[in-house]
Amino acid sequence: MWKDEHVISVNDFTEESVQDIISCADACRAAVLREPGHNADILSCCKHKIMACVFYEPSTRTNCSFTSAMLRLGGTHIQVNDSSSSVKKGETLQDTLRCLQCYSDVIVLRHPDIGSANLASSYLSKPLINAGDGAGEHPTQALLDLYTILREQGGSLNGLNITLLGDLKYGRTTHSLAKLLSLFPVTLNYVAVHELQMPDHVVDHVAMNPKVVQNTFDSLEEVLTTTDILYVTRVQKERFATEQEYEDVKNRFIVTTKVVERLKCTCSIMHPLPRVNEISEEVDTFPNAAYFRQMENGMYVRMALLAKILGVL
Ligand code: CP
Repeated sequence: MWKDEHVISVNDFTEESVQDIISCADACRAAVLREPGHNADILSCCKHKIMACVFYEPSTRTNCSFTSAMLRLGGTHIQVNDSSSSVKKGETLQDTLRCLQCYSDVIVLRHPDIGSANLASSYLSKPLINAGDGAGEHPTQALLDLYTILREQGGSLNGLNITLLGDLKYGRTTHSLAKLLSLFPVTLNYVAVHELQMPDHVVDHVAMNPKVVQNTFDSLEEVLTTTDILYVTRVQKERFATEQEYEDVKNRFIVTTKVVERLKCTCSIMHPLPRVNEISEEVDTFPNAAYFRQMENGMYVRMALLAKILGVL
């Protein structure tokens, strides 16, 4: 199902393919944590495999969790960025990637342009994983977000009330997550200032599943006490045309302890990270602050994805 496939958009995922990754991520977690009954072979299943990480935008979590995932599977990696590669000499993205596929078994790409991963994949015979294409998509983040929701909410998505808050226009994680969640019967609440609301193309995609309810709000108030998942996002400063446009909308939503105290006690607070100040640090100590667990889950999900794509699990 995943073997040798590119991972470009969540549009290509099915309920079955997602379940396959979720089950495998559980096995990877058990192996890393040496849980009773774990499969120790997982920790060497990518021996002699090489992953190329090509990151033309900053990243802490995605780059490091992919790298850690490959190392934990017994493989190794090459790191490329725009300042250290021949991009500096004017080489095209496709030529850089064509080069790297000679040296590696799978390529992970982060790039500032929407559609870059899709375009680049057409030049490649080795699998390419989209690790974020500008304000487009972040499909592997959506997988780890879904995995986290399942872990935090007792293993089922049915009927969950999921609120996406912040920068829904430029936040690629919310585009991918909303589309992925549309495979399941959930309610999606989009809470943002008008200028940063969810793009029509995402809303239209989600609307293809009549079992999903979509609501739009400019205030958290109406959904605060009914939300099961509060998914907070950073306002993406780097995507605004001017500093002033960013200044006008930043800090409109800040999740403080006062906000958290009004949430359902079972509500999980998530964030793809990095955060700037949209969640106060005091919130970190609440048991339902799930964002650091979410970050750890990224490594298990990316282990599963790499192993499946390389056909070793
Ligand atoms: N969530 C995420 O994509 O984080 P990084 O930008 O640090 O990779």
